[in-house]
Amino acid sequence: MAETKQSAGILGLGSYVPERILTNADLEKIVDTSDEWIFSRTGIKQRHVADEATATSDIAAGAAKRALAHAGIKAEELDLIIVATATPDMFFPSTACLVQEKIGATHAAAFDLAAGCSGFVYGLTVATQFIQAGLYQRVLVIGAETLSKILDWTDRNTCVLFGDGAGAAVIGPVPAGYGVLGVELGADGHGGELLKMPAGGSRRPPSAETVAQRLHYVHMNGNEVFKFAIKVMGEAAQKALQKAGMTDADVDYLIPHQANIRIIQSAAKRLQLPMEKVHVNVDRYGNTSAASIPIALEEAVLEGKVKNGDKLVLVGFGAGLTWAACVLRWYKEDSSVGE
Ligand code: ACO
Repeated sequence: MAETKQSAGILGLGSYVPERILTNADLEKIVDTSDEWIFSRTGIKQRHVADEATATSDIAAGAAKRALAHAGIKAEELDLIIVATATPDMFFPSTACLVQEKIGATHAAAFDLAAGCSGFVYGLTVATQFIQAGLYQRVLVIGAETLSKILDWTDRNTCVLFGDGAGAAVIGPVPAGYGVLGVELGADGHGGELLKMPAGGSRRPPSAETVAQRLHYVHMNGNEVFKFAIKVMGEAAQKALQKAGMTDADVDYLIPHQANIRIIQSAAKRLQLPMEKVHVNVDRYGNTSAASIPIALEEAVLEGKVKNGDKLVLVGFGAGLTWAACVLRWYKEDSSVGE
């Protein structure tokens, strides 16, 4: 008889956003834009922005502490920390190592993962493998970004879209039939040009010239990324459902990456889901990249929109280009916040 794999799921969730809020009205004073344009094209009303002293590891640690409290476990019990981010504090050490030190997770291995806005679901998938294999018992996955630090605040095409934030989840064993039931990860490197920070790495090391050419900021072809997102969100979700032996009709609640309300609505339509079954908070946070899905999931759980046994689909897309979807059957003995 084939050995049944240990099921893996989320034991606790936490999020953290910087206090400072930048509204569309504030942005009207910075670039040639309007609240009407931003809200009608994206659904965004405001976003949180880190101050000068705050880096990605700071907000990642904030989210991590909340997730540990929610899971009811101590930092010392963690076996591994994975931080999904496109805005690490620095190239090295990894942001995961910085978080390990900040929260006192003395027994945890740590590494960063780069998959753009799909990073959290990629990380969740990696963590699941460790639990299913029996190698680890407690893995902390964090999606954390301070995109405000790499935005060109003179470029209205990009600076209005993003926000800072972090979301974390403790992954561990759950009863059979719950937790992660199906995943679909993908990448299309041909689309790498559409969304990138052109300089600062080994291809174009930092120089006075790269700074003068504003190459250390997010450069994006918004229209092309939009078309990609519309295509891939529904497709990825349906493939993950198929792998879980389910169809659209089985979905109780959708937690999509929060980039643009029109992209979210299109994914919901493809899955034939009414918007009541879709979590939306892009209006309050903007696109927080790898942090958006765990922030939305925690909010949905705290608002009582997710109940034990519910079948959730988490789906995102991002720089790479990448996509990632996961079918998760929610299980938590006590879903109230731990802190
Ligand atoms: N305010 C006012 N006007 C603006 C602004 C702004 N902030 N930004 C762009 N415009 C102008 C453009 O210059 C353009 O003017 P033109 O026609 O005179 O040239 C006009 O508005 C229309 O621009 P479009 O690109 O056609 O607008 P669209 O409806 O496609 O919306 C948007 C643009 C919001 C960027 C959309 O394409 C989008 O959401 N794309 C996806 C982006 C995304 O999700 N990126 C994140 C990827 S995930 C990750 O890994 C980070």
